[in-house]
Amino acid sequence: MSVDASVEILRWYDSGPRPLPWRAEGGERPDPYRVWLSEIMLQQTTIAAVRPFFDKFHRRWPSVEALAGADEGELMAAWAGLGYYARARNLHACARKVATEHGGAFPETEAELLRLPGIGRYTAAAIAAIAFGKRAVVVDGNVERVVSRLFAVDEPLPAARARLYSLTDRVTPAERAGDFAQAMMDLGRTICTPRRPRCGICPLAERCIAFEQGCQESFPRKLPKPAKPHREGLAYWLQHEGHVLLVRRPARGLLGGMLALPTGPWADHAALDEAAPAKVQWEEVGSVDHVFTHFSLRLRIVRGEAQDRTAAGIWWPVESLGEAGLPTVFAKAAARAREASLPLLGKAA
Ligand code: ADE
Repeated sequence: MSVDASVEILRWYDSGPRPLPWRAEGGERPDPYRVWLSEIMLQQTTIAAVRPFFDKFHRRWPSVEALAGADEGELMAAWAGLGYYARARNLHACARKVATEHGGAFPETEAELLRLPGIGRYTAAAIAAIAFGKRAVVVDGNVERVVSRLFAVDEPLPAARARLYSLTDRVTPAERAGDFAQAMMDLGRTICTPRRPRCGICPLAERCIAFEQGCQESFPRKLPKPAKPHREGLAYWLQHEGHVLLVRRPARGLLGGMLALPTGPWADHAALDEAAPAKVQWEEVGSVDHVFTHFSLRLRIVRGEAQDRTAAGIWWPVESLGEAGLPTVFAKAAARAREASLPLLGKAA
């Protein structure tokens, strides 16, 4: 395959690019702030999940300066539910750096973008190409799949990454590299899907070696993934007169900087321990399962009634818990703890 493939895919893109809130219309350059915000949100996250968050953030903080001036706790709460929370802290740090060191204008080159917090190789290339029209090689998981099929790359991921990058480089055009990248990503998401790719309507089918060989679904080759370890932990629902105890998790580490229920350590096995936030009678009321990138977790929920509100943390009104911005696993745990108290209320009524 040659650079000509880029002509085909750009023609396909021009025949109806998916309108997305961060894309510009009719050949205009999009706003770099919107491009950056969307690219950070889209890391490991689907477009459907990102859309409402993008709209909320953009409405609340319409410029990089506005975001730089955001209250950190408010920003973390607004991110709650989107996952990979280090992104939110880096988002804030990046906005502050762009506002203070770059006069509010994102730098245009990959090398400069790479120096900003939360911007790695993929994101730097995507912003340089999409927002600033630079020729940059943009490779995400969708592009890896498309290219691995086009060239029938036998080497398995992750070792194949270097080869897939250089093959993408080979097909990236000098002009419109941003549209090309977005077209490849759209193609990967809608046509060149992991299972049952729709090769019958693919603009690149005639050039695709895997299609020619009839084995498109077997790409990209992957080494078998090691099984995820399983961990167990306890989450403490400590309540007092319509309030529940929350804590802010340490900035570094999993769910860093987010509000949460107090927990014990996450290990092979969970037991009531010194991490309990008060010496009260604890009752187990259920559990929630959650899968993180590197392990799966069963969080057992215990509930207790405090005598007062002296336990250290943030006593949050239960009625407005939805505004606390709990990450999904703790939102699920809180819902379970509250559900568990409903039958009692029902009986009393
Ligand atoms: N995935 C990540 N960024 C994207 C973009 N700009 N267009 C389509 N899919 C994407």
